[in-house]
Amino acid sequence: MFEIRNQMLQGDCLDVLSQLPDASIDLIVTSPPYADQRKHTYGGIHADAYVDWFLPIAAQLKRVLKPTGSFVLNIKERVVDGERHTYVLELIIAMRKQGWRWTEEYVWHKRNCYPGKWPNRFRDAWERCLHFTLEKQFAMYQDEVRVPMGDWKNSRLRNLSETDLQRDNSRVQSGFGKKIANWLGRDLAYPTNVVHLATECGNQKHSAAFPVELPSWFIRLFTQPGDVVLDPFLGSGTTSIACANLDRVCVGIEKQSEYIEIAKNRLQAASPLNLFTMRENQYLYEIVPIQGEK
Ligand SMILES: C[S@@+](CC[C@H](N)C(=O)[O-])C[C@H]1O[C@@H](n2cnc3c(N)ncnc32)[C@H](O)[C@@H]1O
Repeated sequence: MFEIRNQMLQGDCLDVLSQLPDASIDLIVTSPPYADQRKHTYGGIHADAYVDWFLPIAAQLKRVLKPTGSFVLNIKERVVDGERHTYVLELIIAMRKQGWRWTEEYVWHKRNCYPGKWPNRFRDAWERCLHFTLEKQFAMYQDEVRVPMGDWKNSRLRNLSETDLQRDNSRVQSGFGKKIANWLGRDLAYPTNVVHLATECGNQKHSAAFPVELPSWFIRLFTQPGDVVLDPFLGSGTTSIACANLDRVCVGIEKQSEYIEIAKNRLQAASPLNLFTMRENQYLYEIVPIQGEK
């Protein structure tokens, strides 16, 4: 059994996860290999086999996650034979049967997606960030991701109407309502479930790295300093960097040794002081090879 601490573990995540203790992780945030898409770089899984491949991993993730924890799965279905494959939708249904709650779906809007033209669709500018939990009540720190209210505050709140001063109940009787005057004197507002971030692939030596801000946003939303974050498909170590910046413990798992090496170098370059810590001059991070590369 592995002790939970900052580490990058090299191996197939299905094997490595089985060596992590039960209910030891506060947040899992990851971007798994997409169906077939990257078969020339790090191996792909056929779209039709994706759910069967992922479910045993999801079962291990469910075991290691604390009951108050969250699992954020960054994924997007690919196009097969001119239409979107349904494996992500099938995976959501299968994971619900496995006992997960599909609590929310966030959208990562890629602000700088490649320009292009296809005969039957427009360029793809977003990916899913599926939010699964084990319980209805889970840890969430919404204030940590508040955003500046911006110009809206100056224009909309300058002249308040009668309605703005009272609770304005929904006209379709949904039970929802709003009181605009509640926002007077505030500088920050809660964000939406669309996260607008540019991609950052170019310089990470990994063809599918997500931007540091993506895991960072979910880490701030679902954990506190000192909490444990797991990325079972660590790739170039973006989640490790986010955790180091935010003072969270990161357990990263990656199958390919060259990506572990990249992750280690990126982390060292991003925050060198974090590698030699205050913990009696020991490396905070350890690279632990547990089996040969597959
Ligand atoms: C989409 S990439 C993750 C990229 C990562 N988010 C980053 O920012 O660099 C998926 C990674 O999962 C790794 N991988 C694929 N199958 C794996 C497995 N069974 N166990 C562990 N890692 C695996 C691949 O080598 C690849 O680096």
